[in-house]
Amino acid sequence: MFSRIIGTGRYLPERVLTNADLEKMVDTTDEWIRTRTGIERRHIAAEDQTTCDLAEGAVREAMSAAGIGPDDVDMLVVGTTTPDQIFPNVGCLLQKRLGIHGCAAFSVEAACTGFIYALGVADKFVRCGEVKTAVVVGAETLSRIVDWTDRSTCVLFGDGAGAVVLQAAEAPGIVSTHLHADGKYKDLLYYPTGVSKKTPEREDMQDVLTMRGNEVFKVAVSTLGRIVDETLAANNLDKHDIDWLIPHQANMRIINATARKLDMPLERVIITVQETGNTSAASVPMALDMAIRDGRIKRGDRLLLEAFGGGFTWGSALISY
Ligand code: ACO
Repeated sequence: MFSRIIGTGRYLPERVLTNADLEKMVDTTDEWIRTRTGIERRHIAAEDQTTCDLAEGAVREAMSAAGIGPDDVDMLVVGTTTPDQIFPNVGCLLQKRLGIHGCAAFSVEAACTGFIYALGVADKFVRCGEVKTAVVVGAETLSRIVDWTDRSTCVLFGDGAGAVVLQAAEAPGIVSTHLHADGKYKDLLYYPTGVSKKTPEREDMQDVLTMRGNEVFKVAVSTLGRIVDETLAANNLDKHDIDWLIPHQANMRIINATARKLDMPLERVIITVQETGNTSAASVPMALDMAIRDGRIKRGDRLLLEAFGGGFTWGSALISY
């Protein structure tokens, strides 16, 4: 038994924040942001819009593309680090919106790798025969935890949501997923407080998304290189066997490095970072949906999805679409 993607969707909030807008907010330039990151604009959720609102837009599109209704959904898994509230989890909130009753619904927190983690979990449930149809979402409102006075982080992030519907099938589908984490890097990228910890553990920690960008960059490039190798080796594939790379959209220079590792021309890499910035768990499913809808990715193509994020967490999925 395998799981296969039968529908995808995405949702981006209406408000666009350009690099020119950011020039008026912090000491930065369009040129710096574009050359260091590739980002030109990002979408920001309206004040009354939550992660669940964005997720709902993406899931409705994915369910419609898959031709399924609420009664068909056996499991809902949401990758997010910016849930509406502590509980009920975003999966349960989505159930209420969509009229889905009774199936398991939960969120998975793995920062930018959240969608790959959610996909890996849902795929296992389908493979073992417990679930026939699963909705998998990556959704974030990172704009809510970014320090809008810190030029080193606020220029990087945006909001959005992407979703896929998985269904049981006799052939892949999802060929393999590879999930990893190493908490020893916890101080390189973090948000320091939560529910049980109200104050940061050290005085120098501020209560905002904090990143040692340069160090994150170096670990991200080498780790993503390794996960590409691991995924190819696990499936006895050569780098030239991949049709499309769908990377986490954090930084154009990191995407370039992974593409080089795969010897892949940029025309075979799905790139949305210029339009969306880093939307964390939403970035991979949004890029996937965009390339399926615009006709670049076709049935039968072999896809490599990868992501890297706070934790650190990282992961990949090899998919025969
Ligand atoms: N505008 C102008 N100058 C800036 C800005 C800005 N927005 N931000 C930083 N600078 C300055 C710095 O102050 C520094 O100045 P100095 O040399 O005078 O001290 C200079 O630019 C260079 O700063 P670096 O941090 O060394 O710049 P770098 O080339 O590393 O680029 C960046 C920074 C874009 C953040 C990069 O390191 C990066 O992309 N890192 C990885 C991000 C990532 O992948 N995160 C993982 C996922 S995120 C998640 O999980 C939530």
